[in-house]
Amino acid sequence: MGASPPFLLVAIDGGAASGKSSTARALAARFPLLHVDTGAHYRAITAEMLRRGVTPGDGPAVESALAGLRLGTRVSGSAAQMEIAGKVPGDEIRAPEVNAAVSHFAALPAVRTALLHYQRSQVEVARAHGFKGLVMEGRDIGSVIFPGADLRFFLHADPVERARRRAQEGQQDSVAERDRLDSSRKTAPLTCPPGAIDIDSTHLNLDQVVARVAAEVAARLPHVP
Ligand code: C5P
Repeated sequence: MGASPPFLLVAIDGGAASGKSSTARALAARFPLLHVDTGAHYRAITAEMLRRGVTPGDGPAVESALAGLRLGTRVSGSAAQMEIAGKVPGDEIRAPEVNAAVSHFAALPAVRTALLHYQRSQVEVARAHGFKGLVMEGRDIGSVIFPGADLRFFLHADPVERARRRAQEGQQDSVAERDRLDSSRKTAPLTCPPGAIDIDSTHLNLDQVVARVAAEVAARLPHVP
């Protein structure tokens, strides 16, 4: 068997509304990378738990619900979308109830373990669809999911600016409270991992952030213009 072709792993972490999704999407539009939004995974699981009436405090109910979830992936353009029982969840994953509950479910080790395996499996999905790598965004990608990623970025932005961005999107979301919960949990907390490239986007627009990140990617995928 020959060696597998080279594959570029790009991790982008950061707090709520720090610009991760827009940056990762822009990278996937420019380079042959599959975009994986892991926040959407936690949101989809949360929406499913809420639909079943399961609360984060009820460990056995969470575990039995997780055991019955059939997770899959649909690749649509350059985005990988997580399916639950063959369906990609819709806008309900951005609802205020999900915004309020997601960090509580995301703090549970059972939820994180289920998603760790699923998220690592996205490398095979990307290869099978002919991508040259993947860009995965979240809170623990460069620290836990792919600590050996070729490129690891951490995006910062002032909390006031981030709250403004969410409000501008018409979202009811307490970004500071989610960051507090995400940073203080025991398992895989939100943190800038040592060695990651730290970018403060408070005074940068999206194009400037993308230019900074894209320059690093282009240096590692030199055959792409
Ligand atoms: O990125 P987004 O804001 O959509 O993420 C929603 C929530 O999912 C976060 O506030 C966090 O609680 C959880 N999350 C996580 N680890 C990740 C991605 C998201 O704990 N890698």
